[in-house]
This record gives sequence, C-alpha cells and structure tokens, in this order.
Amino acid sequence: MPKENLYLCMGSACHQLGVYEVLPRLQSLMKDYDLEDTVELKGSFCLETCSYGIVMKFKEEHFVDINPQNIDDKFIGEILPTIQKALEQNSSPS
Ligand code: FES
Repeated sequence: MPKENLYLCMGSACHQLGVYEVLPRLQSLMKDYDLEDTVELKGSFCLETCSYGIVMKFKEEHFVDINPQNIDDKFIGEILPTIQKALEQNSSPS
C-alpha cells in the first residue's frame, strides 16, 4: 500500500512560529502511534494559511493553529483521528 503524505508547512511564517520544534515532536508521535509504515511526513511550501499558526495538511484536510506547545494535543485530537479514518478506508477488509 502506498504511504499517505502528511505535510508540515516549512514556509517562512510557519518557520518563525517554531516548525523546527514541532518537527521532532511529530516524528516521535508518529513513532508512538505506529504510523511510520503508513504515513510519510513531508515538508511543504507555504500552504497559504499563514495567519493561522503552523499549518499541516493531510489529504484535503488542513490543520491550523499548531505551535510547539499544542502539537501533542493537536496531533492526538485532530490529526491522528483523521489519519486513522483515512487508513481504515484504504485498507481492504481481510
Ligand atoms: S508559511 Fe506556512 S502556511 Fe504560509
């Protein structure tokens, strides 16, 4: 199964808000939740919603207002459920 891409904005506005603190946290969260084989974390150019804090994107869904303090909550509360739902739809019943 091809991996799904999870994008983290690396544009200048998001960079200033602390993307480089968010990134290692995300990597370890993905490890904790066993997403390394199914989801690819990718840097992205500006996702065009700069005024809303650090931005992430998974499929057509945008996650905004992320910062180094709330990344755990955001991931577990919003991003992870979206990923899991998408992965469920992808996997054929066995
Ligand atoms: S720099 Fe991240 S959305 Fe524009």
